[in-house]
Amino acid sequence: MAKKKGRLDFVQMKQKGEKVVWVTAYDFPMASFAEQAGMDMILVGDSLGMVLLGYPGTVPVTMEECLICCKAVRRGAPNTFCIGDMPFLSYQTTDADAVMNAGRFLKEADMDAVKLEGGRRVQSKIKAIADAGILVMGHIGLTPQSSGALGGFKAQGRDPESARELILDARAVEEAGAFAILLEAVPPELTAFITKDLSIPVYGIGAGAPCDGQLLICGDMLGMFQAFTPKFVKKYAAVAEIETNAFKEYISDVKSGKFPADEHCYHILPERAQEYEHMLKELTRR
Ligand code: KIV
Repeated sequence: MAKKKGRLDFVQMKQKGEKVVWVTAYDFPMASFAEQAGMDMILVGDSLGMVLLGYPGTVPVTMEECLICCKAVRRGAPNTFCIGDMPFLSYQTTDADAVMNAGRFLKEADMDAVKLEGGRRVQSKIKAIADAGILVMGHIGLTPQSSGALGGFKAQGRDPESARELILDARAVEEAGAFAILLEAVPPELTAFITKDLSIPVYGIGAGAPCDGQLLICGDMLGMFQAFTPKFVKKYAAVAEIETNAFKEYISDVKSGKFPADEHCYHILPERAQEYEHMLKELTRR
């Protein structure tokens, strides 16, 4: 079994130019498959609200829902660096709330780090969490919790003015003490600039290749989430199709009498077969 990676491994990987690969997971089986495959880290993203719970966005997701998923993921991937995603309003209110809720991910769900969305506007929250000794990752660009304010799930930093703002946000996240930062849905040119500009690892989802590692959402890459597929997703499987076809075949097998067959049945103990038959006869009413 590979050794569980930590912050220093990620710094070394950045220095050596070795890419970090990570994925979201929200439950025990998904986490154990990710660990068996050799994933460098796992994000228990608040995307669980859309992928797992069927909410229209991530805003309704609660701390309790995140913690249940984090605990399941930790049981499935005991040897993988796991990050708990802080849900909407679990950190925006006060620095104290941010520290208390970040701490719950470590104390109650054994996460290795937390992630939160925003740049300069959450700088004091990142600093407070980092000062409490908790590894915290920043997340800028398309930040789904504020997609309403951003005008929808839209790429960010495509013009010089907004790209400049994102560079200042990235610097603020690093200065506040984050151990890494995630860029979502920004042009590769901006990704390359920020990756060179910062000394902490810079990861991307929909941010092109020139950064220190890639994240994908399991529901997207496995073809499980059907509501929409962002342009940046590469689909590695068609799980929704596989599951729907399996359910269809099961329905048809039961209706036609093909399932269950003899091999799916438990049989009477052969040495007690006569007694068994006798008992059934004795209790027969019709
Ligand atoms: O919740 C999540 O999965 C995320 C990704 C969108 C980056 O934060």
